[in-house]
Amino acid sequence: MQNEMSKILICGGTGYLGKYMVKASVSMGHKTYIYSRPITTQSSPAKIGIHKEFQAMGVTIAQGEFDEQEKLVSVLRQVDVVISTLANPQVLDQLKIIEAIKVAGNIKRFFPSDFGVEEDRVTPLPPFEAFLENKRKIRRATEEAGIPYTFVSANCFGAYFVNYLLRPHEQPQDITVYGSGEAKVFKCCRENSMSRRNLYRFFVKWM
Ligand SMILES: NC(=O)c1ccc[n+]([C@@H]2O[C@H](COP(=O)([O-])OP(=O)(O)OC[C@H]3O[C@@H](n4cnc5c(N)ncnc54)[C@H](OP(=O)(O)O)[C@@H]3O)[C@@H](O)[C@H]2O)c1
Repeated sequence: MQNEMSKILICGGTGYLGKYMVKASVSMGHKTYIYSRPITTQSSPAKIGIHKEFQAMGVTIAQGEFDEQEKLVSVLRQVDVVISTLANPQVLDQLKIIEAIKVAGNIKRFFPSDFGVEEDRVTPLPPFEAFLENKRKIRRATEEAGIPYTFVSANCFGAYFVNYLLRPHEQPQDITVYGSGEAKVFKCCRENSMSRRNLYRFFVKWM
């Protein structure tokens, strides 16, 4: 059975979303790899800790930069599926992953770092539009390269937006609600650190 399962490489696997991907991949029994920028004396204790945690889980860690095509190709040749969860400023670095996938020639499916709004169907205000345009460039490059792909639109992660962007710990006096205030939200993450009380407070009480 193990041999029939996809071997999965996650680029950006030490990040916010990537950590969930790595843990889910391991828990589903896939042989799991990450391609991660090298640990140096400048690396944060958090990143060193994540590498140790992943090693203990049996994750294969390849350390390298995306400019090191030969190294990246040699890792790609060991896997079937590539999931990219690269950070927003590094979206265009995925062009290097696409080039390496073309050279490797064995990848059965590529998931680029989307995981947000459906960028082919929305036209938001700048600067978000500029950011989405970069994600669209990666989609078009993936299609042109003839790589089998899945584009994932996950919309907004409640835990990310409430805890990081709304910053409930700052106890603001005033909150601006855009639109009619009647939009509905739902919570669907088991590991969500946001309490139902906070969800109510930030999405319901103020509408
Ligand atoms: N829908 C939503 O609500 C939502 C919320 C958050 C994120 N997202 C999406 O999810 C995707 C991943 O975002 P994220 O927030 O998880 O990313 P992140 O945590 O900021 O970073 C992911 C990883 O990118 C790698 N990386 C490579 N080059 C880098 C560089 N020069 N500087 C910093 N990191 C670099 C790092 O891994 P190594 O150090 O191991 O190389 C890092 O851990 C994005 O497409 C983002 O738009 C969606």
